[in-house]
Amino acid sequence: MPRGADLAALRESVAGCRGCPLHRDATQAVFGRGDASARTVLLGEQPGDQEDLRGEPFVGPAGRVLDEALAEAGIDPGEAYVTNAVKHFKFERRAERGKRRIHKPPTLREMTACRPWLAAELELLDPEVIVALGATAGKALLGSAFRVTKERGRLLTWSAPGPGPESGGGDGEGRGGRDAGGGEAAGAAWEGPLVATIHPSAVLRAEDDREAVRAGLVADLRIAAGVLD
Ligand code: URA
Repeated sequence: MPRGADLAALRESVAGCRGCPLHRDATQAVFGRGDASARTVLLGEQPGDQEDLRGEPFVGPAGRVLDEALAEAGIDPGEAYVTNAVKHFKFERRAERGKRRIHKPPTLREMTACRPWLAAELELLDPEVIVALGATAGKALLGSAFRVTKERGRLLTWSAPGPGPESGGGDGEGRGGRDAGGGEAAGAAWEGPLVATIHPSAVLRAEDDREAVRAGLVADLRIAAGVLD
């Protein structure tokens, strides 16, 4: 992790990250995409199959769902910064599915190993609102007790530890807090509004109730859009 790096330098360095074993099977690390002055940061879980191949976040089917939902909610997708809690694609190959690479959720250890990249990104971006897309993104920001079903669509506060005795080490749990200015937030490098919602791939997985699931995603994103008004 280079000190004093800008987003371009972080992107270059993450390519050589060996902080956890996921780099071994992934094609490449996928860093965030967007302008450093973006007002909104969208945080996903990890790159998917297409993102892994193309080296950019949310360029596959989930990205298309996300872009449409953002536009409907009043957030210009082109003006948001998109990134992931984990920068390498985790998958397994299943012979019975034509050797397709099937997504596997990251472990807490993998999320913790990747955390410094996310913390550095957020500190540089200093967004007006951050949207956690799904359970992994929520846990990466608010700890493992986070439940997207309970917290979605509400205005929360997230804070990141800055330099000082509170930062560094730890197990990746409990380092974020909803209590801005409180104990866990002491020395915060970044703190601000956070809205959690479902991951856009939940819309793709939905069958009979797909439109209702999609409408729920849009409704949650409208809460984030309200912060920008
Ligand atoms: N899903 C994610 O969480 N992130 C991506 O970049 C693509 C799919």
